[in-house]
Amino acid sequence: MFKREVNKKGRLEIGGADAVELAEQFGTPLYVYDENYLRFMMRVYRDTLDREYDGNGLVLYASKAFSCMGIYALANSEGLGADVVSGGELYTALKAGFPAEKIMMHGNNKLKEELALAVEHNVGWVVVDSLWEADMLDGLSEQAGKVQNILLRINPGVEAHTHSFVQTATPDSKFGFSVADGSAMETAKKLLEKKHLCLKGFHCHIGSQIFEKHSFVLAAEKCFEFLSAFKKETGFEASVLNLGGGYGIHYTKDDPNMSFSDYADYFTALIDAVKYECEKRSLKRPFLCIEPGRSIVGEAGITLYTVGSIKEIKGIKKYLAVDGGMFESPRYCLYGSKYEAMLANRANEEPTEYVSVAGKCCESGDLIGEGFNLPKAKSGDILAVFSTGAYHYSMASNYNRNLVPPVIIVKDGKADYLVKPQTYDDLIRNDALPASLK
Ligand code: LLP
Repeated sequence: MFKREVNKKGRLEIGGADAVELAEQFGTPLYVYDENYLRFMMRVYRDTLDREYDGNGLVLYASKAFSCMGIYALANSEGLGADVVSGGELYTALKAGFPAEKIMMHGNNKLKEELALAVEHNVGWVVVDSLWEADMLDGLSEQAGKVQNILLRINPGVEAHTHSFVQTATPDSKFGFSVADGSAMETAKKLLEKKHLCLKGFHCHIGSQIFEKHSFVLAAEKCFEFLSAFKKETGFEASVLNLGGGYGIHYTKDDPNMSFSDYADYFTALIDAVKYECEKRSLKRPFLCIEPGRSIVGEAGITLYTVGSIKEIKGIKKYLAVDGGMFESPRYCLYGSKYEAMLANRANEEPTEYVSVAGKCCESGDLIGEGFNLPKAKSGDILAVFSTGAYHYSMASNYNRNLVPPVIIVKDGKADYLVKPQTYDDLIRNDALPASLK
């Protein structure tokens, strides 16, 4: 769990820097990442793979959780691969100098241009999620005179306990092909016939923000049942297996407090299951991939806001309005996600009241969250919301023409931009006035 350090001035620290000084220097709202935390989490997975599985695999950072050039450069410097899910993520990774052969491309409806970009740059693997896509990719590879390595996304039908919007492997999921109804088998056989695609193995991902170790292990077992059945029918033995991401993080006291070693334990349990299944079914140990996103960047990030207007609706609730909102913190509105927060400039003060934190968007549902336990706040206080490193910046928008906040990374007290501030000119950059309106 991210350690909430308070300095001698009674202020929150992140990455060795005073959060209030960061707010003064860079303005608010501000996304702040702790570089050491990011690196530790990346190493936890990478070292576990090295130790428990002889490094025979790749930890792919699931960059949908937070994508910008700097995070790809950092993941690369820690020896990770990357999972990208759009042409935009792929382009960003490539521009950051990320090695294409360590990139795995996802998406349930990849566009032709996205696939063409992947083929052009020789990405390591494309995870095929439809036959329509496979035909398109086969054609593009043929045109380029290449053979593209692919995995097939299968749905092992494991239900994990998490918000239904972030579940992906339920029987009615739009992702993958069901093992249970035989469509995974049928599709994989067809892929073996493609001349310009080389099926390397399979992929599954059961959902996100999951704490039940058993769900991951069960999914791995189901995959091996399938691998084994597929080998019996076709003689094909998978050499790559990607078991997805989804490891949960601490948002509030309702979530387990995961330490670095807990994540190593989760991955070890998965690796043990893989080793056991290979032994039991006389299969070669596949090149093993996992794709953690949230657990790498989630707790590494906090968001700083300045408290503006404060409104009390007598006997009902108190609102602190901040300079952010659903445009930069959409998860409460989308999933009802809960967070913890503190006043960064008064970090030693005891909480005395429960408040709702509202954003500045023109929408009543625009809340950062409710039930925050804080000291009595004043306008001008700096509010820090924890565990905002995953799916915040990456899901931000310019709703109400608000500016997406800048992102900084802090190490040993020194801060630098990962993403510079937007300007109003950025907002109108692609606007066009048709001749008839000029
Ligand atoms: N691999 C695949 C194929 C995925 O679909 C995902 C997440 C991941 C890996 C990474 O999962 P993670 O380790 O981050 O849990 N916007 C939602 C989360 C959507 C997750 C989508 N897929 C949220 O804010 O909770």
